[in-house]
Parts: sequence; C-alpha cells; structure tokens
Amino acid sequence: MKRKSIMVNGMTTAIFDRLNTLSEPVRVRMLRVLAREELAVGEIARVLHTSQPTVSRHLKQLDGGGWVLRRPVGTATYFRLDADSLPDDARALWSLVQGEVEADALGTGSQYAEDLRRLQGVVAARAGDSEALFRRLGGRWDGMRRELFGEGFVLATLAALLPRSTRVADLGCGTGALLPLLAQGSALVYGVDREAAMLEVAAARTAVLPNVILRNGLLDALPLPDACVDVALCQLVLHHVRELGPVYREAARILAPGGRFVVVDMVAHDREEVRETMGHQHLGFSRDRVAELATGAGLTLQSWRALPPDPDAHGPGLFVAVMGPHPA
Ligand SMILES: C[S@@+](CC[C@H](N)C(=O)[O-])C[C@H]1O[C@@H](n2cnc3c(N)ncnc32)[C@H](O)[C@@H]1O
Repeated sequence: MKRKSIMVNGMTTAIFDRLNTLSEPVRVRMLRVLAREELAVGEIARVLHTSQPTVSRHLKQLDGGGWVLRRPVGTATYFRLDADSLPDDARALWSLVQGEVEADALGTGSQYAEDLRRLQGVVAARAGDSEALFRRLGGRWDGMRRELFGEGFVLATLAALLPRSTRVADLGCGTGALLPLLAQGSALVYGVDREAAMLEVAAARTAVLPNVILRNGLLDALPLPDACVDVALCQLVLHHVRELGPVYREAARILAPGGRFVVVDMVAHDREEVRETMGHQHLGFSRDRVAELATGAGLTLQSWRALPPDPDAHGPGLFVAVMGPHPA
C-alpha cells in the first residue's frame, strides 16, 4: 500500500514512519520470518514465542504501513513480506536492517537464529497437520471437496491432459457447454450444430475464445474439410439421428490420420416414452451396434465402457465409446 507523505518543517514524515516501524525489534523479527514464509497470526506467535495479541498489534502497524501482503484463506489471513513490491525507500531501509540482522543471527544463542529454528518447526507441523487431517477425513474428503470447490473443475483438470496441438470437433455441440473446456486444452475446437438457437448460446459462451469456431450444419454433411481434426466427439446426440451410417462416415472423413471418434450416449434401454416425449429415434445403443456402425465407416471400436450411474441422475445409463482407424 502506498502511504501519503506529509510535509513537516519541509521534510516528509513517511520516512520517519518507516524508521519508527523498523525501530521495534519484534517487528523486525516478524518481517524477517515473513520474508521467508507466509504465515497466519497464530503461526507468527509461535515462531516469535510471543502472544497473539502482541503479534496482531504489530501486524496492524506493518499492514498499515504497507510492509506486508495479506491473503485471506477461509477464516484465516496469511501474511508475507515481498521485498520486491515495497516502495523504494522502504526496500532500501529493509535491506540495510536485514543485513545487520543476518550478521547478528550468526552469533551463538541469537534470538534471530531461534526464530528460524521455530519457523522450521511451524512449517513442518503444517505438513503434519494436513497428514492428520486426511487420515481423519478418509472417505469424507469427497463430500468436503464438493462443498469447497464444486465438481466442474475436474473437467478442466482432464481437459488440461489433452496434448496442446489437439484439434477437436464437437458434433451436435448444442449450447456449447463442452466448448470452453475443450478450448482450454486444445489448439482448435469446432462446434457444429443444425440449430441456430443452440449456436447462439454457444457463440455467447465462447465469444472470447479465439480457438473456437462454430458452424451451422448437419452431421451427415459436415461443413468441415477432410482430415481436419484429431478428435471428433458426439455427446448425447446420436439417439436423435435416424440414419446413423452417414454420420459415422462423416466423422471418419474429418479425422486426421490416427484420429479418434468418441461417442457418449445412452446404453440400450426400454423407456419407450422417450420416443414421444423427447423425439428419440433410438432407445440407446448396445456395444455391438456401435461396433457395427464403426466398421461400416471404416473405423474400429477401440473401447466401449458403460459409465457408473450418477446417483442424482434419472435418465438411462450412459456409455463412452472410442473408435479409431483400422489397425494397419
Ligand atoms: C441433446 S443436445 C446435446 C448437446 C451437447 N452435445 C451436450 O452434450 O450438451 C443434441 C444436439 O444435437 C443437435 N443435432 C441433432 N441432430 C443433429 C443433426 N442431424 N445435425 C446437426 N445437429 C444435430 C441438436 O440441435 C442439439 O443441439
């Protein structure tokens, strides 16, 4: 924080404030440990072997003078000194004082050496704390993680595993929910859908993503050149498409050599009502049916996996199938 300087008898008071701050040994010791490690109030108290109210009082002055950076974490606040971000005069003074202190710290039985020894203990105890925490939590961590961070970030983690050069086509992208995630990990992402209304939402979602290209078109006549992507993806789309052969062949056509066609859809089920209520053309797909369609398009079914049911979901179960070129 930059402090306003007040002129007193032709001199600015800011430098006197800074000298005043550094004239108190506890504050100097505090700054010295905070230059090495980001600490919470209780930890500083343990390192300096003093009370928390004393630490809080001195921290208030350091904070007010812009000597420390603060970072709130949950209900705690962590403090550190980043000498590089201090104003020039404060940095120069700190460098001078620090030099003196480090020289003193070399003496036997020095208070400064003790501080660093206790600092090591406090940092080591943190690791111990987290080990104990996870031992205690066991299987409850999943719920706690969901509560703290939600579920969405897991998808971003997985998207980051894609090779940076990957080009992806999301066929039947709908409102484009997958596009921002795919765009994070890939070089280029095409979103194709026949419904302008869906593409409008997708366009708003991806407006700031230069590597996403949206195309209005049909899956059996894709508006994309041959061999332009490494992955073609069809998620929750194919049960809507009556004639699947041409769609599989189009997916195979746009795959670059070694590319994969990934289909996520419903496993075969008997909920007839979805034909009426949601216009489904197929009641899911069996593994054999997917393999047959792949073969018809010159591809091989490389893997087919039924996904574990989500306890909150009411629809039929899903599968993920991966298809690639026939082995040479
Ligand atoms: C159920 S939504 C799924 C959207 C998205 N893939 C997802 O997982 O959220 C199906 C989408 O496929 C599109 N679609 C269905 N048949 C299509 C076809 N023959 N050609 C192009 N798009 C099609 C629909 O317009 C719709 O946006």
